[in-house]
Amino acid sequence: MVDLQNDLFLRACKRLPVERTPIWVMRQAGRYLPEYRAVRQQFDFITMCKTPELATEVTLQPIDIIGVDAAIIFSDILVIPEAMGMPFEMHEGRGPVFPSPIRNEADAKILKDIDPADDLKYVLDAVSLTKSELNGRVPLIGFSGSPWTLLTYMVEGQGSKTFSAVKKMIYSNPKLAHSILNKIADAVSAYLSAKIEAGVNAVQIFDTWGGILSKDDFESFSMQYISKVISQVKRKDEPLIVFAKGVHFSLDQLADSGADVLGLDWTMDIGQVRKKFGDKVALQGNLDPTVLYADHEKIKQEAVKILNAFGNGSGHIFNLGHGILPDVPPENLKALVNVVKEESVVYHTA
Ligand code: CP3
Repeated sequence: MVDLQNDLFLRACKRLPVERTPIWVMRQAGRYLPEYRAVRQQFDFITMCKTPELATEVTLQPIDIIGVDAAIIFSDILVIPEAMGMPFEMHEGRGPVFPSPIRNEADAKILKDIDPADDLKYVLDAVSLTKSELNGRVPLIGFSGSPWTLLTYMVEGQGSKTFSAVKKMIYSNPKLAHSILNKIADAVSAYLSAKIEAGVNAVQIFDTWGGILSKDDFESFSMQYISKVISQVKRKDEPLIVFAKGVHFSLDQLADSGADVLGLDWTMDIGQVRKKFGDKVALQGNLDPTVLYADHEKIKQEAVKILNAFGNGSGHIFNLGHGILPDVPPENLKALVNVVKEESVVYHTA
């Protein structure tokens, strides 16, 4: 194994001392980069996901161009439903679409157990190739959607404003919802374990749609399955990050889930969350992604506000509170990364 030249991200996840706060951003391998769009012009999104050389190329772009402290493997959360038997399409401007969504028991019969080594070999190959191309420069993060967030796409068939189809399922046929969630949780556990085996240094679970549920429903239909995944993922000392967007009401449960790092969206006060949980978990976040539309001086002010709110000591991984938006100028992200690298040093002088 190659020793890492920059392991700030991993040390911060474990709340070990660091010289400065590490930074990476969700969706850093994406359309805001002209270099990504140049590749994307030649290949469709799913081909990029399924071709290890292309996935590796765009995974490395933000490391080379922006200078972030961790890479996240280019892929999508929807490769799991696909492996379970639901092909999807990526529609320009509309996002992902499953032509045959799951609405009842008969639909659910098509869902199969996955063998990541076979069904998702292309992701594992992309992980191996990316690791070798990174050559120890920074750690590599693997990820998955949470069972609940995956269920929303599998039932809605596409993005949604009301989530009425998936909510209809949890209220009219909770038994079916739970049986599918169990199946997805097993698939996610096997997938994350296989990615760790293939070489990722940390994993993140995205619960993008946990926040559309009430507290009780979140605990029953999302948290329970996140906990199941966390208990089943086979890891040595690879940190696990859980990012649940809009879930103020169940932060305690998330902090007690066995995750090493809690990802925060921008509506939470990172200083208060730190006070609440102390040394229980590290925190990741949480700049509003739209701050990156501002000028460099304003970006600096807002970044320093977050560094200052977290305060002294390790256990903070700087990130946005959700994914970077496609029309952000790359130089603004670069300005943020440089500000965090420079301004965070003072919080780590013992
Ligand atoms: O963070 C990274 O750079 C790694 C790559 C990554 C992608 N998707 C690539 C992508 C990651 C971590 C994801 C996660 C993902 N995918 C989530 C959870 C995180 C979040 O942002 O909430 C969700 C909900 C999806 C599903 C998905 N994929 C949607 C809704 C869309 C369409 C919306 C959009 O941003 O275009 C995608 C497409 C997608 N996934 C793109 C990329 C780079 C853009 C596709 C393109 O190039 O046309």
